[in-house]
Order: sequence, then structure tokens, then C-alpha cells
Amino acid sequence: MQIQISNQKPLESNVDFLVIASFEDESTAVYQELDQALNQAISHKANKLKFKAKAKELLSLDTLGQIKANTVLVVGLGKKDKYSAILLRDICAIVAREAVKQKATHVGLAIPTATHPQYELSLGIELGLYKFDTFISVDPENPKHLVESFTLFELNTSIDAQEIKKGQTIAQSVNLARQLVNEPANVCTPTKLAQTAQSLEQYPNTSVLVWGRDKIVEEGMGGLIAVSQGATEEPKFIHISYKPQTSRGRLVFVGKGLTFDSGGLSIKPAKGMEEMFIDMGGAAAVLGALTAIVQLQLDIEVHGLIGACENMPDGNSFRPSDILTMYNKKTVEVLNTDAEGRLVLADALHYGTKLNPDGMVDLATLTGACMVALGTNYCGLFSDNDDWAQSVLNAAQAAGEKAWRMPLDEELFSTVKSKRADITNLGGPWGGAITAALFLKFFKGDSTWCHLDIAGPTHMSKENGYISEGGTGFGVLTLLELAKSFKKA
Ligand code: BES
Ligand code: ZN
Ligand code: ZN
Repeated sequence: MQIQISNQKPLESNVDFLVIASFEDESTAVYQELDQALNQAISHKANKLKFKAKAKELLSLDTLGQIKANTVLVVGLGKKDKYSAILLRDICAIVAREAVKQKATHVGLAIPTATHPQYELSLGIELGLYKFDTFISVDPENPKHLVESFTLFELNTSIDAQEIKKGQTIAQSVNLARQLVNEPANVCTPTKLAQTAQSLEQYPNTSVLVWGRDKIVEEGMGGLIAVSQGATEEPKFIHISYKPQTSRGRLVFVGKGLTFDSGGLSIKPAKGMEEMFIDMGGAAAVLGALTAIVQLQLDIEVHGLIGACENMPDGNSFRPSDILTMYNKKTVEVLNTDAEGRLVLADALHYGTKLNPDGMVDLATLTGACMVALGTNYCGLFSDNDDWAQSVLNAAQAAGEKAWRMPLDEELFSTVKSKRADITNLGGPWGGAITAALFLKFFKGDSTWCHLDIAGPTHMSKENGYISEGGTGFGVLTLLELAKSFKKA
């Protein structure tokens, strides 16, 4: 699919599907021109259907040969003072989906861009076109419809081709994360995550290190060893490092990469277990973000770390009551093998700390409790450093991803204390997202650190604006924004 820029008048262009945007409180010039060319057919239909051009509202109309395009789609931008970059992205995604639905081939898009980053246009289009259909056989009677091109009309502002290219690069990175989340555990294995990471070595300043089972054992990553020991799939520890010539600082991103979480011997009930192929959403976000960062060659050093494995019940599984010696030599009493993410992350965080980062962020589908607390749209954000928490919150907001700061209540630390080891992997009955975060804090050393519990937003049951159904790629845009905006204190 091609995205091109045109300074033609939208009405004179050869597109077959013409999309024009209009505000609720002030119709755009192109809306008026088009309405006139169609003998007021648009305003007539708008009146009849009470179409008000509210944000994301759609009105479509066959032109019956009156203009070159055979379909016109009017899309509402809402009130002019509420028009934001994220709304622009949402609208482009909604329009792209509608174009596929209406079997459009060449789409023209006339939408004001003066006040927002232009990369949101192509980002929205490409995010809207993503659909997980890899495993659906093609029906020869009804083949999948593909839009061939999008033409972006320059209305009053010129559009920068570089920005459009950038939006496509970013979207491909988010869509990569979505695809990895959507792929089932028999396809997306720890080995596949490692191969995906290794494919980034083709870009300048980028190298990738992968440890298999033997090396993980040799290094003593006790958490990753224990969680993976019931599985046949080989665990992988993945380190992507991107070191440009000039750098504003050093960031470390850490992702939970459980390609399947059955719960292990503390096995999950059947209902809910089938969803646990998404338990590598954190790893997917890190891979997506690194993919964008190395392609854009940002001027900041970034390391992506992933602990990848499967949590399975077996004769070799780790057991509730086992005492593990972790990568940092601290010991953990396992009280529930389903609280496995924190064990894998603990080792990755210790590895990260040794890189001496200016800032570290981990992303993990860590607790059901976080979804109980915040619903599924927000991720929980935990940090013992107010400045770093604020930087990550700001990045999330600029990225259009919802994050909410949660308390790292030290008083709950007593619930993860163990009589038999340094700490246990299970907290008390309340505040499960918090006790999980406190466990991670025990392993992050003196690094400036922030934990994002993304159990909710990693996966959605329904599409919403630019957000896709299924894997969402949540976190990619926040990490990218953080890398773009990071300034050393
Ligand atoms: N992967 C799950 C958390 C999860 C639940 C992610 C639902 C996405 C959707 C995690 O490993 C887990 O099982 N957590 C337990 C922790 C408990 C045993 C302390 C949980 O949340 O129930
Ligand atoms: Zn679990
Ligand atoms: Zn898990």
C-alpha cells in the first residue's frame, strides 16, 4: 500500500473514494466545495441523518457520476478547539478501516493538518489497516480486499514526505508488536522472539545478544531457569543494544516475554488460560520500540532486554515451596508458580542495572489485579522516583497511551517477606499489582526505574480508534516517545 502526497484539488483527483473532514462548529472549505459540486447532496443527507460532524462520526454517499470519485466519505473532527494529534490519528485509522469495508482502491484524504505532527496521518492509516488474519484461509470467492493507495491532499499546508515516511516506520513497529502478541504460543516461541530481535542487526549501531538455556544456567539467572524448566521450548534471554555515535543518555527497556503462561503447577483454570499467549506483550512492546528506534537512528543509547520462556506444568517444573537463587544472588521462596513474570523480570532487571542506565522501564502483563484496579484501558505505572514517573507519564500522554500512577506502598512489603528466603513471589490478598511491583523494586538495585503493568491494554476485545482488536502493541509508542524526549537531569 502506497501513501502519497498531492497538491491537486481533491475534487479533481482520480481517487475512487474521497474522504473529507469537517469540524462540528465550522465546516471546512473543501466540504463546502464538494457539497456544491454535488448539488447540496451532502448537506441534504447530513440534515436527514442528523449528521453533525461530531468527532469520528461518518457519513458516506454515492456520487453517481457527478464527480470523479464514486464514493464520498465525510468524517467529523468534532469541535475545532478539541482537535488533537491523537484524534487525527484515530480518525485516519477509522477512515482506513471504512475504506477497506467499502472496498475502496484509491483513497483520497482531505484533512486539516496544520496544528499537529504530520506523521500522525500515516501512523493512523497504517494502524487502522492492521488486522490479524494470518491463519484464515483465503476464500477464492471472496478474496481479501486491499486498498492500493492513499493520497493525502495538501489543503493550506504542505505535507512533508519525510514525516509521512516516519509515521509508516512507527506504525510498522507497532504492528510488529501487535502481530507477535496475536500469534499463538505454538508459533510465537521464545526462539521466534530471539530471531525477531536478531533481525535488527541489519541496522547501523545495533547488536543483539541471545543466551539459550545452557548460558542462562551458566550465568545463574535462577528466575528464568525455574520458570522455564517445565517447558520443552528453550528459554531465551535477549539483549538488543543500540549505541549511536552521539547520545543524549542511556535507557534500558525490559519486557516480560512469557510466550505462554499456563500457571505451571499452580495451574490456571481452563477459562482464561486460553488467553495466556498474550503474556509476552511487554516483550513485544520492547521489540516494537527498538525496531522504531534503530530505524529512525535516534540520538540516544537504548538497550532492550527480554526474558522469554514458557510456564508449563511437568515433572521438571519448579514447585510452590522451591527456593530459587536469582541472578543477583538473592533468594526467593516460590509460593505460587503462576506469579512467574516477576521471577523472569527480576533477573532481567538485575542485568539492566549492570548496564548503569540513566533510566529503566519494564513492561509486563503482570497481574490480573491491575486490571481489577484500573480496567483494561489503562496500564498501572509504579516508580519510587517522582521525576522519572512523571517523565514516563508525560511520554505516555504524548503517545496517546493511557497510564495511571499507582502507589508503591512500602507498608505492603511485609506481605512479600519470607521466613525461609529473602523474599517470596506472592503477596497478601490485597493490592496484588502493588506487591508485584514491590517485588520488582527489590531487584532493580539503585537504578532509576519505572514499572508498567500492561495486563489490561495489551489485548483488546474490540477495536477503538487507532487501537486494534486483539494485540494492541501497547507500550511501543510510549517507549518511543520517551526515547525521543529523554534529557539527562
Ligand atoms: N500473566 C498473568 C497476569 C495476567 C492475567 C495477564 C490476566 C493478563 C491477563 C500473571 O503471570 C499471573 O498469573 N498473575 C497472577 C499473580 C498471582 C498468582 C499472585 C494473577 O494476576 O492472578
Ligand atoms: Zn502467571
Ligand atoms: Zn504471566
